[in-house]
Amino acid sequence: MKAIAVRPGTPNSVHLAELEKPAVTDIPDGRGVLTRVLKVGVDATDREINDALYGNAPPGYDFLVIGHECFGIVEEIGPSVRRVKVGDYVTCTVRRPGGSIYDRIGRSDITSEEQYYERGINLRHGYLTEYFVDDEEFVVRIPVGLKHLHVLAEPMSCAAKAVDQAILAQKRLQVWEPKRAWVTGAGQIGLLSTLILRLRGIEVLTLARGRKPNLKAEIAEGFGSTYISTQDYSLKELAATHGKPDLIIEATGSSELAFEAMQILGHNGCMVWTSITGGTRKTEVPSDSINLNWVLGNKLLVGSVNANFRHFESGIADLALGEVTWPGVIQKILTTPVQGLDNYKEMMRLLVEHKDALKVYVNVAEG
Ligand code: BGC
Ligand code: ZN
Repeated sequence: MKAIAVRPGTPNSVHLAELEKPAVTDIPDGRGVLTRVLKVGVDATDREINDALYGNAPPGYDFLVIGHECFGIVEEIGPSVRRVKVGDYVTCTVRRPGGSIYDRIGRSDITSEEQYYERGINLRHGYLTEYFVDDEEFVVRIPVGLKHLHVLAEPMSCAAKAVDQAILAQKRLQVWEPKRAWVTGAGQIGLLSTLILRLRGIEVLTLARGRKPNLKAEIAEGFGSTYISTQDYSLKELAATHGKPDLIIEATGSSELAFEAMQILGHNGCMVWTSITGGTRKTEVPSDSINLNWVLGNKLLVGSVNANFRHFESGIADLALGEVTWPGVIQKILTTPVQGLDNYKEMMRLLVEHKDALKVYVNVAEG
């Protein structure tokens, strides 16, 4: 069967590869779920893997099948599978366990090992192919009524984890009632984080470069957030007019902005960094002032990557709630479809050149 792959280490090596069709019996103890791939989303991670910034092939291969945001339909299950049945729409988690205590309790998203295994990213093939098989432990059901939001389940799981980490970490304060949140960045993680926070009744400012009117602003404001262009106001000015935030979800992809935002977080606040900044940029920061302010304000910085099964489930539940609360808004994120695996060059071109594309995804098959 066909697959879209790269040769890790070689820039711009995206190509069509051939893989053997997997079988449920590839997974031990009758726990295999064979899924026919319908759609796969791509993001900056896929672009940076194709730029050879990171990513590794699975052992025994000189290529890596990319794509970690999948949506498919279950075609066959092993005899022990209970969670899903044939015909269910599903997605699948990304990270696979290593050997740490966290990996052993189903929390490979917080593995303590430096090496991690991620389908489509590091040491495991991804989903940009016709079929995949996996252990039912990693397969997540998507209700039929959310079929139209398909590949958003994975980015939503990352946003769900980011917000959840803040809420869990802020238990340190005994009481935390965040009223104001800022989301920096209005890509998929920024917009989906905006959605989750608005569903919890928090006042949200969504900040991004582009001036209104634009699609990002339309979506953020569709969730009842206030969208502001950072070309018009500095973060300091915004803190003076709107008040300092209790929570910042940082999702710009710019480490410079991540440090700038540290300077305006309110006392007892929490900031979550979610961007994978795969570069070598350096930036000068007012370190004395940040240090002083963070100590005097008991502030907290949390890094958040990936997501586990539970975050997928809560993310999917919030997609459903978001859909009935602001009908039709979430699907506006799904801007840019590409027809078929054969169009892999077009897929990568859109990912690199089409800066306004909120979500490029490949229609792999009908279903
Ligand atoms: C993926 C995450 C992954 C991270 C780091 C993101 O694009 O959505 O699942 O953990 O990249 O590789
Ligand atoms: Zn991703």
